[in-house]
Amino acid sequence: MSEVIGVIGAGYVGAATAAGFAHLGYSVAVVDTDAAKVDGILCGRSGLTEPGLDDLIEAAHENSTITASTSYSVLTDATIVFVCVPTPMRSDGAADLTFIDTALSGVEPYLEPDDVVVLKSTVPVGTGDAVAERLGSAGVHVVNNPEFLREGHTVEDFLAPDRVVVGGDPAAIKRVTALYRSLHSPIVEVDRASAELAKYACNSFLALKLSFVDELATLAERVGADITEVTDVMAHDDRIGSHFLSPGPGWGGSCFPKDTRALISTATSVERPMRTLAAAVDANEAQTQRIAALIADRLDEPDAAVTLLGLTFKAGTADLRESPALDIALTLSKQGVRVFAHDPTITSAESLVARMPLENPADPSQPTLPVILADPYALDVDTRVIAIVTEWNDYRSLQWSLVAARCPHAVVIDTRGIVDAALVRSAGLQLYRIGIAEDWL
Ligand code: UDX
Repeated sequence: MSEVIGVIGAGYVGAATAAGFAHLGYSVAVVDTDAAKVDGILCGRSGLTEPGLDDLIEAAHENSTITASTSYSVLTDATIVFVCVPTPMRSDGAADLTFIDTALSGVEPYLEPDDVVVLKSTVPVGTGDAVAERLGSAGVHVVNNPEFLREGHTVEDFLAPDRVVVGGDPAAIKRVTALYRSLHSPIVEVDRASAELAKYACNSFLALKLSFVDELATLAERVGADITEVTDVMAHDDRIGSHFLSPGPGWGGSCFPKDTRALISTATSVERPMRTLAAAVDANEAQTQRIAALIADRLDEPDAAVTLLGLTFKAGTADLRESPALDIALTLSKQGVRVFAHDPTITSAESLVARMPLENPADPSQPTLPVILADPYALDVDTRVIAIVTEWNDYRSLQWSLVAARCPHAVVIDTRGIVDAALVRSAGLQLYRIGIAEDWL
């Protein structure tokens, strides 16, 4: 274990990478501009809602194999430095590489000849070459090693990846792949541009698949079919696969929305437009608005209220980034609907402020943030629609009789296909499930 690992960025990707390599026996140094994250790591905590992550960080902390700082000098002894900073979406859809640039400027003074800089962040094709040119004169090698970590599963995905992808400088690739050797996962060595494009390709293909299923669910409702039966037939075909076939309120999160748009942007810039992907992005926006319209259509009185169950973009995370639930809340609120919401990870509307831009939050006649419920049974008595937007297990096992006792005239819209229909209906509540024609016709 002669390599010493450096990690720039302690978000989902950086924290899991640091904790994972510490778990594999490496000495790891983390740098982040956020002092709270650094202090957390120094006390053995990640500050993230990620199963298993704090256990690994705590163990590394006890073994003194992890350290952290807001100063790049903590990377002085690192021989392989992983860049794990965000590459958010610019207003034109392209990836914003400002954080990559800042990270490189920060680490440059501490790099020595033969050190390796690994780009784990999702970066557009050509970024690795540009970084290699920038650092090459100092004898530093550059490797692209894109991450495929799902939020809520980052530790599991780090320790048992479907594949490890590495591209770039051949001598350095050997040193980077050696770090992962003990995981016994397939290691795919490719050229740098292919590594960069492959990351976008994976996320975009999954987004494309979901948009197809979301539209298919809409069609199923109209033509008398059941989307669960249709996707079951599809899943039996190994060429299609059984994952990512559940319709929902639209895909969101920190990756799919920005990565699809960045790939569209790259393709457009070289005059090779990706029409399929552009259509998937459009379909996704339409899906979220369709759900908002289905909810609005079921409000029969001016004072009727809506409760959204789930605000995060998916279950198992506290992340609200690009969450369809927030778009639905905003659309309804703009129509004057009173919106309530519950989410197991959200205890106050404060955390919504940054994710739900309101023009004039103080003006009650303008759209407002949803009122956060302490539990899913604390429903406003005027609730007419209860919409399940995130697939939290809590909502699979709701006591529908309690819901019905409080709001006997409410209808339930299940956008994730998670409730037991018989239980909802036996409580006397009307149920609409996405993609199931018998509920809608
Ligand atoms: C994704 C990729 O899976 C991961 O490999 C990458 O590195 C980061 O982006 P993540 O953003 O955590 O991970 O979410 P993921 O679990 O992939 O779900 C993405 C979106 O698809 C969510 O909005 C989710 O609700 C939605 N989804 C997923 C569905 O609507 N139906 C499904 O069947 C699966």
